[in-house]
Amino acid sequence: MRYLVIGSGGREHVIYWRLLFDGSASEVFVAPGNGGIDPAHCVNINLNRHNDIIEFCKNKKIDFVVIGPEAPLADGVADTLSASGIPVFGPSAKAAKIEGSKIFAKEIMEKSKVPTASHRDFTGKKEIIEFIANCKKYPIVIKLDGLAAGKGVVVAENEEQAMEFVSESVKENSLLFVEDFLEGEEASVLGISDGETILPFISAQDHKRVFDGDKGPNTGGMGAYAPAPVAGKDVIERVGKEIHKPVIDVMKNQGIPFKGILYAGLMIGKENNVLEFNARFGDPEAQVLLPLIDGKIGDLFIASYEGKLKEGMLKFTDKHAITVVMASKGYPSDYEKGKLITGLDSVSNDILVFHAGTVRNGNSIYTNGGRVLAVTSVADSLEKARDKVYSEIDKIQFEGAHYRKDIGYRAFNRG
Ligand code: AMP
Ligand code: GLY
Repeated sequence: MRYLVIGSGGREHVIYWRLLFDGSASEVFVAPGNGGIDPAHCVNINLNRHNDIIEFCKNKKIDFVVIGPEAPLADGVADTLSASGIPVFGPSAKAAKIEGSKIFAKEIMEKSKVPTASHRDFTGKKEIIEFIANCKKYPIVIKLDGLAAGKGVVVAENEEQAMEFVSESVKENSLLFVEDFLEGEEASVLGISDGETILPFISAQDHKRVFDGDKGPNTGGMGAYAPAPVAGKDVIERVGKEIHKPVIDVMKNQGIPFKGILYAGLMIGKENNVLEFNARFGDPEAQVLLPLIDGKIGDLFIASYEGKLKEGMLKFTDKHAITVVMASKGYPSDYEKGKLITGLDSVSNDILVFHAGTVRNGNSIYTNGGRVLAVTSVADSLEKARDKVYSEIDKIQFEGAHYRKDIGYRAFNRG
């Protein structure tokens, strides 16, 4: 099988690696790819021009396309490809709206009776300012509708923070809502769906803040591990029954079947409340989930496209994985690019280094983004995986590199 993976991050690098590693694929191209991917297999296609993607697939006899990020899904790349007879993994633009519109996601949750914080809708600055002026109880959570590259949510501890978010992010005609603040520990449970059946992954836990101890601004994710003990077998089973399946059923009944990865971001507790849905693999969650799959990932992608997923098809080894993101100086604010990365070849063979913001120039690799590398270890226990990754990571260096030193701390603090 010949695959094309769309995207350029760590998530796409792990998909590329996994397809080759387990024998799903004979050849994998990545558009546009990054410095970790064989340059002969990085392809420069303008992803906005769907016909160019189709033409590439025909020329290179691509059997199957996997779409990594949200933007091409929202842009309907899966729709165009399947309409042209090219099999593809990832939801239609209409189904991907469950990520792109938080209001749409709330509507689906209401219809499918999925546990989530109660909320109240607002339109524009005037209405929300009036609400904040009269609000007595903090924290409150304000969420903007629409894709906002991680800047669409604030958990405001007081009136000042709420107002700051409004003046920075809310426009006259913005659609938004305020929802109840929920306490607990977060975890994500992804499911792979063919529009009817949905099979749950083991749980994973991301670390969104830039600094140790969950301090500092939000990022795309600074590290992750799986499985997360806060969401063990019982939680996964409940998420399957109470969240994944009802959502898939409601979407199917509405004529927008969801095929692909439904990512449920959850606040684990007495109820496992949904904080958000994504329509794709998480990044860096994919870097810890994909190495733990037992079997051929390509079979799952194909079964999702063909509507042939069956119970028991998604299996995991009993190992543990952890990934630590190395980021550029300044990330998640402005950062510099073009720093030489050294030591990539000196890490132990059992460390998987997935590239994200990197670029190759000759035989050298340079930084080319905020999140640069996801340094990953798989071991018999989470502790061993953590110790391994942190004993190796400093062999890789670039000017200004920073990473969190406490990935997985919640699992270890449970005692
Ligand atoms: P979202 O993009 O909706 O997942 O929100 C981003 C982050 O804000 C989440 O990962 C949580 O840490 C936090 N958050 C979102 N909604 C809530 C809520 N209702 N209560 C507490 N924290 C929340
Ligand atoms: N790591 C969170 C996400 O991919 O949305």
